[in-house]
Amino acid sequence: MSTFDTRDLRAAFGSFLTGVTVVTARGEDGVPVGFTANSFTSVSLEPPLLLVCPGRFLSSFDAFKNCRHFAVSVLAEGQENVSNTFASFKGDRFARVEIDCDLHDIPVIRGAAAVFSCETAQVLNAGDHALLMGEVRDFRHSGAQGLGYAGGKYFSLGLEQRAASAPRKGLENIASAIIENDGAVFLLRDGASYALPQVVVERRGLLRDALGARLHALGLDVELAQVYSIYDRAEVGEHHTCFRAAYRKGTSTEGHFVPINQLAEMIFSVPGQSATLKRYAMEHQTGQFGLYVGDVDGGDIHYH
Ligand SMILES: Cc1cc2nc3c(=O)[nH]c(=O)nc-3n(C[C@H](O)[C@H](O)[C@H](O)COP(=O)(O)O)c2cc1C
Repeated sequence: MSTFDTRDLRAAFGSFLTGVTVVTARGEDGVPVGFTANSFTSVSLEPPLLLVCPGRFLSSFDAFKNCRHFAVSVLAEGQENVSNTFASFKGDRFARVEIDCDLHDIPVIRGAAAVFSCETAQVLNAGDHALLMGEVRDFRHSGAQGLGYAGGKYFSLGLEQRAASAPRKGLENIASAIIENDGAVFLLRDGASYALPQVVVERRGLLRDALGARLHALGLDVELAQVYSIYDRAEVGEHHTCFRAAYRKGTSTEGHFVPINQLAEMIFSVPGQSATLKRYAMEHQTGQFGLYVGDVDGGDIHYH
């Protein structure tokens, strides 16, 4: 028996960025089974081998342990719902998503970034999981960006990259940060109102560096995370990129942490920040944070 704290070990494993797959097979009765897995690994090109690790806790564990064939669908950006369905829905998972059948008549996920159809090569016991190794008999890939997963959350690299690198001719680039610590967000006092810390950036490629330097100058040591909101204020020639950030240490005399449940009532001096922080307060309750792309009046929220 190890003396590790299992939750802590899980969190440490979770710092490894992965994609997300759905692994499917048929039970002995022919009924399809499937689960979401990020334990997918490519193993060998010659022969073509891959590996996934089904947990013993899966209701479908016996089906996977004994299957002759199985398939791995690598989920594409935007397929978070498919991942959630195959991770937690308890009814007929296949009725809720669009599927095709592969050469072994195993259902696979339509729109996946890649699909591998396998013949089982080896099954090994491995603690509370098993190693299910398959020899690839057929595969396809669409060139779509894969859905990302890190630290228990989805991310969409392609979407962020496209939005953050879109040319904004003539607009001034402004980067801001929602720095969270213990249920509160750091705000600067701006007279009678409040503002997120922000900085004007010379070149779009330098957004993170410039914002990091600004926050450092304020006395705050933070870890900048994903982009949360991208919007134009064309009337004043500004293009805003707002990042989520985690507080590490430091104090600033220019502002303070405000509890997230008070954000909806605060007055902000920068138009756009009020709506951004209202959404942040709402999404904080569920832990599902989207990416807003638009302008001050309207836009789309993409959920990672
Ligand atoms: C992103 C993600 C990755 C996962 N990876 C694995 C995995 O590699 N192996 C596994 O056994 N379960 C994994 N799970 C959990 C299973 O998907 C989940 O326990 C399973 O669908 C439950 O199925 P059941 O209700 O049929 O037992 C993962 C879940 C998520 C959200």
